[in-house]
Formats: sequence, structure tokens, C-alpha cells
Amino acid sequence: MTEKIPLLITGSSGLIGSKFTQVFADKYEFQTLDISDPVRPIDITDKSAVFSFFENSTAQTCVHLAAFTDVSAAWEQRGDKNGLAYKINVTGTETLSQAASKFDKHLILISTAYVFDGKKDTLYTENDKPNPIEWYGQTKAYSEDIVTASDHLWSILRIDQPFRSDPFTKLDIAHKFAQKITEGSAKLFDNHYFGPTFIDDFVRVIDFMIQSKTTGIYHATSGEKWSDYAFGLALQEVLKLPGKIEKSDLVAYQQNQVRPYQTNTALSIEKLKQVLPFDQLPIVEAMRLLQL
Ligand SMILES: NC(=O)c1ccc[n+]([C@@H]2O[C@H](COP(=O)([O-])OP(=O)(O)OC[C@H]3O[C@@H](n4cnc5c(N)ncnc54)[C@H](OP(=O)(O)O)[C@@H]3O)[C@@H](O)[C@H]2O)c1
Repeated sequence: MTEKIPLLITGSSGLIGSKFTQVFADKYEFQTLDISDPVRPIDITDKSAVFSFFENSTAQTCVHLAAFTDVSAAWEQRGDKNGLAYKINVTGTETLSQAASKFDKHLILISTAYVFDGKKDTLYTENDKPNPIEWYGQTKAYSEDIVTASDHLWSILRIDQPFRSDPFTKLDIAHKFAQKITEGSAKLFDNHYFGPTFIDDFVRVIDFMIQSKTTGIYHATSGEKWSDYAFGLALQEVLKLPGKIEKSDLVAYQQNQVRPYQTNTALSIEKLKQVLPFDQLPIVEAMRLLQL
């Protein structure tokens, strides 16, 4: 049996992290910086804990997935640099970046399409300038700034609306929509667009970045652009779901909301395709693999 490769990872218990550790259980020896680890909990905002963890690790790379990901809860904390969203997303990333510099690690930050304002009609490229319109996106943009200004090896992978084949405790967009459709209560925007990311493929993209040490900013979704309504209809057809889907209107919905919503967060992956040695599944094919 070949020896496992040591790998530092944050957020290993989350939606994406738990799929990554499941798929690559035989390849990597995971050294997890996990706040709810029953034996050795590590808070990524705790500088001395993170530094001592890095110092004792022979891993060359840290995959950084941990984040405050509740966008609506983050909006309630907007502007608050003592709030959890800022602390986890910005201070946590800063701590990891400092540790990566000191102990010479490659840091792979997982980021989001919410760094963009969502006003562009076409796919966002890596050359488009971030301009976040809400606090979660703002804190992730700050975390990107920290990493891009660092002197260690770094990669940033931006994704949007990730979903995985198997169900997880936190429902992803595909499982959430499938549930709503089946319950017969699906009202889906036909004027809100996103770029779904199939997590089963995305974890292979992360593995590729680790192995190839490819650095820089990469968009790593499916490269497709879907409206919520079209995504729901496709799910219904592929999975033969009962229930009725109604169209709804993002502009009307937003009139009663305080939190701003991006209209389009679909990303171009042309840059990634230049380096990635495999093709990701088209989203409709990924839908066929969904277990409800
Ligand atoms: N999900 C999305 O829609 C989406 C979209 C675009 C980008 N992303 C990015 O993708 C990455 C992974 O997202 P996800 O959906 O997998 O996240 P998730 O399911 O919300 O999991 C977040 C993880 O962060 C950990 N964590 C939170 N605070 C921590 C702290 N202070 N110290 C150490 N660990 C801490 C959590 O640990 P516990 O569970 O133990 O609390 C959990 O493992 C994030 O960087 C996110 O910004 C996600």
C-alpha cells in the first residue's frame, strides 16, 4: 500500500470538506483543524493553536474550507469586525496565511462568486473586479485580499451553489429544490442566475490543485449558467419528481428584503479548463447521480 500524503485541512466536517475527506480517504492523511473535533478542537482564529498545529505538520499544503457560510446571518453582522462572520472568514484566513508563510505551506482558499456584485449578464471571469454587495461576500473578498498579498504559495478557487450526489445534513441547492418540488411548494426565480458546482467533481479539482501546485485565482464551478426555475425543471425531469413548479420574480421578492441579492453569479471556467486534465460532468449528468 502506498503511503498517504499528509494534508492540512480546515472545514473538513462541512458540506464540501466532508465529501473531500470521503473521496480521498485512501490518498491523504488528513490533519484537520476542526473547531468541533472531540479530541483536539482547533479554532482557526486562535493564532497560537494554528501556529503550533502547522509547526508540527509535515504537510506541504493546507486546504482552507472553513468559513461562516450563512449569508443571511452574515448580513445581520454587516460592518461588524467583531462579528463571527468577519472573525472566521477574515481573521481565520489571516491566521492561516501567516502560518503558511512562516511554515512554508501552499494555502488553497475556497472562495465564492459572491465576491461579485451579480450585475453582469454574462459569465464572470477571473479578470472581473470583485465588488461585493453583502457582508458574507465582503468578508470572503477581504480573505482573498489577504491571500493574494501573501508571500507563500497560494491558490484561490471560487465556486457557486455547490451540490453533491449524496444528501448531507445541510441541504445543498439541488436537494433543497428537490424537496420543495416534491412537497409541491416550489416557487423558483426565473430571473436569478447562478453557476452550479458539482461537489463530487470539485473535490477532484482541489486534489488537482494540491498535486500540481497550480497557483493563482481560478473559477471552479461547472462553467454553466442556470436560472433557479430552469434548474428546478431539469431536476424534476431527470429525477421524475412529482409536484408543480411555479415561476417567481427576484425583483418583486427583493422589495420586501433588506439583504441584497446578486442577480447573476455564474462563472466562466475557461481558465481552469486550460490546466485541468479531466472534464467535469455537465450539470444535467450530475443531476442523474443525485440520491435523495
Ligand atoms: N456552501 C455554499 O453555498 C458555498 C458557495 C460558495 C463558496 N463556498 C465556500 O466553500 C467553503 C466550504 O463551504 P461549506 O458549504 O462546505 O461550509 P459549511 O458546510 O458551512 O462548513 C463550514 C466549516 O467551517 C468550520 N468552522 C467554522 N468556524 C470555524 C472556526 N472558527 N475554526 C475552525 N473551523 C470552523 C465548520 O466546523 P463545524 O461544523 O465544526 O462548526 C465547518 O466544518 C467555504 O469557504 C465557503 O465560503 C460555499
